[in-house]
Amino acid sequence: MNRIFSGVQPTGNPHIGNYLGAFRNWVALQDSYDAIYCIVDLHAMTIDYDPADLEKTRIDAAKILLAAGVDPDRSLLYTQSQVPAHAELAWILGTMTPMGVLNRMTQYKDKTEAGHASNLGLYAYPVLMAADILLYRANLVPVGDDQRQHLEMTRDLAERFNNRFGDIFPIPDAYIPETSARVMSLQDPTAKMSKSDVNVKASISILDDPDVVRKRIKSAVTDSDPIVRYDTDDKPGISNLLEIMGACTGRSVEDLADEYADSGYGVFKEAVAEALVEELTPIREAYKSLSNGDVRQVLHTSGEKGRDLAAPLMREVRKAVGLKGY
Ligand code: TYM
Repeated sequence: MNRIFSGVQPTGNPHIGNYLGAFRNWVALQDSYDAIYCIVDLHAMTIDYDPADLEKTRIDAAKILLAAGVDPDRSLLYTQSQVPAHAELAWILGTMTPMGVLNRMTQYKDKTEAGHASNLGLYAYPVLMAADILLYRANLVPVGDDQRQHLEMTRDLAERFNNRFGDIFPIPDAYIPETSARVMSLQDPTAKMSKSDVNVKASISILDDPDVVRKRIKSAVTDSDPIVRYDTDDKPGISNLLEIMGACTGRSVEDLADEYADSGYGVFKEAVAEALVEELTPIREAYKSLSNGDVRQVLHTSGEKGRDLAAPLMREVRKAVGLKGY
């Protein structure tokens, strides 16, 4: 069976962008792939954080994924720091990553411009991400649109490694959904919905109560022309809501736009909110029924399996790069 790998940073509350752009596909792809999902805590340390919070956010991220349908009997779900080989492979890949390539990565620029302190870890973030994926010889990586550049760099590093040291890594493909790969802010639909947005009205968390969901959709910024139409340039707010509703109902944005064209924004927004409430309610309920102890057990068992899976690949890599053990 082909393998998929994907990760999420345990920073703040996961939102509907994370869910519709990534997690939903993680759940669906478990049927046809050998799946490995990782809470990337080492990545989360690249921006300012509180150690006590990190424990809470790691458990919470795992709990949300289990509630959303990640099945620990079929897939691995663990935290990156449980498998030290992620960091070791990142070091090895770092020695073959040109500075010019890292200088072109937009995330480092975006984060430092947003006020995060620059540090080597933040700069080398995409190298660790490449190591995550290559460590398990993943073929497919389900992510949102914002990870496209990182995936391209991962492919490039795998090719560089293979050319120099022999064919060890498959070249992984990104799996980016057609709709909702880039869920936008509800307050500025030209910017992506982000966990770090200070405006609470800009996003909806996966665990938000139905009333909050309805309120946020109702106050979503749209435009003054009352026709519901999919047009990301002229109507980014309405197009974003169409994508959200499309992802929740499985209907195309064109079909939805036809149905709601003349119904007015109020009625359309109510329908979007109800579709979202329906999608999120089972997750919120499943989340409540999981205990932290259950989650820790899943992480523990998966982490052990992850270390076992990574060990033979690391032996091959060490040998190939000239670090044979004694
Ligand atoms: P992170 O934690 O920012 O986000 C987790 C997943 O959610 C997707 N996503 C979105 N999708 C649609 N609309 C949005 N507004 C939106 N915001 C976030 C992300 O694309 C991602 O798929 N670097 C990664 C974590 C990572 C990783 C990996 C991913 C580390 N190693 C290896 C895949 C493979 C990140 O920061 O995701």
